[in-house]
Amino acid sequence: MKILVIGGGGREHALVWKLKESRGVEKIWCVPGNGGIAAEADCIVGDSGDVAGIVALAEKCEPDLTVVGPELPLVNGLVDAFEERKWAIVGPPKKAAQLEGSKVFTKEFLQRHKIPTAGMYGAYDSPGNAYGALCEVDWPVVIKADGLCAGKGVLVAKGPDEATEFLERVMEKNELGAGGKRVMFEEAMEGDELSFILLTDGERYAPLVPTRDHKRIFDNNEGPNTGGMGAYSSDELLPEELRREITARIVEPTMKGLVADGIRYQGFLYVGLMLTKEGPKVLEFNCRLGDPETQAIAARMDFDLAEVLGGVAAGKLQTEKLRWKAGASACVVLASGGYPGKSESGKEIRGLEDAAKIPDVKVLHAGTKRDGEKIVTSGGRVLGVTATGRSLDAALEKAYQAAAKIRFEGMHYRRDIGRHGRQVSAAGD
Ligand SMILES: Nc1ncnc2c1ncn2[C@@H]1O[C@H](COP(=O)(O)OP(=O)(O)O)[C@@H](O)[C@H]1O
Ligand SMILES: [Mg+2]
Repeated sequence: MKILVIGGGGREHALVWKLKESRGVEKIWCVPGNGGIAAEADCIVGDSGDVAGIVALAEKCEPDLTVVGPELPLVNGLVDAFEERKWAIVGPPKKAAQLEGSKVFTKEFLQRHKIPTAGMYGAYDSPGNAYGALCEVDWPVVIKADGLCAGKGVLVAKGPDEATEFLERVMEKNELGAGGKRVMFEEAMEGDELSFILLTDGERYAPLVPTRDHKRIFDNNEGPNTGGMGAYSSDELLPEELRREITARIVEPTMKGLVADGIRYQGFLYVGLMLTKEGPKVLEFNCRLGDPETQAIAARMDFDLAEVLGGVAAGKLQTEKLRWKAGASACVVLASGGYPGKSESGKEIRGLEDAAKIPDVKVLHAGTKRDGEKIVTSGGRVLGVTATGRSLDAALEKAYQAAAKIRFEGMHYRRDIGRHGRQVSAAGD
């Protein structure tokens, strides 16, 4: 089996790692990949959002299966282009990817199918209408840019000044690009957040192990938001009763709603939840795996990923094949100096070999590239040091032991991954 993986972050390195371990996989290409993926796959220069470019590449390589990491190619219609040509690919077609590509589309979907979510005040495509609507909301109000904004399109605004300033940046100065052409306002919810990720072929689905990520840059969830500074997974994270509630109230109606609307969804579906006093409610959907959640999830995979994903692409997910290592996993992200602001790059990374010697550790690369014999930094989030253990404490100990072996100028990371809220409950912890 020959596989093409699209993307070049830590999530894609985790996918390549597990695909490479799968039986019968003889070749993996990755567009564009990174310095760590290069040791396990053939990295090909390219833009992961460029549908025509990837189709042209696949024409040459003839992969048996293509696996898409990021949202942009999905929203751009890569899956549609592959399916037209009868090429096997994992990921939702363009229409289904609107569950991530448009917050308004998603809100209307949730309302139509009576799936719990925050109430919407309205959607506005002119700044004048948006400013006007601010007079009629309760504070805080949540303002969401409709389109893809790489995690920068949402503000929980405490008052009109903050809201107006954000609307100006998004709608008038177009700081977020086309994603900010339209905004919607919704009610603020309170509670703990939880991601619930599943794999589906459109008919059958299987939940992945529960994970939690850490979005803030500093310990104790302080400082600005990031793409994610770490993640962990353990069975205890999600009590059985809450899992049942999420399945019954959110997942089942979502899957049925997609079918009823004629939206064929296949691939990974990430359900972002707020666990409110009235029960779990949907914050958002993502049409792909999360990063760094994937690193923690992959570490616990005890099944043949290529076989399972091949089944999804063929419309036959074998849910019983998804088996997981007992215990826990943790991923600690090592970031560049300056991140999440403008970050440094080109710094040599040392100690990777020593870190890899620690049992049950895998150092997954995100913002790295090869420079001759060296590996250097090339982005804000550089490495995801990932470990498994019989308990969360054991996994964390190994991950931090490995992280301590790695050095590059300006490197920083959180010391408290997995330390807060080890079990979630419906009313928050
Ligand atoms: N209705 C809401 N009430 C309270 N907080 C919210 C609400 N919607 C979003 N948030 C907060 O904003 C974050 C980002 O919103 P989300 O909908 O996940 O968009 P994205 O991930 O695309 O930026 C959430 O993780 C949550 O912390
Ligand atoms: Mg989100």
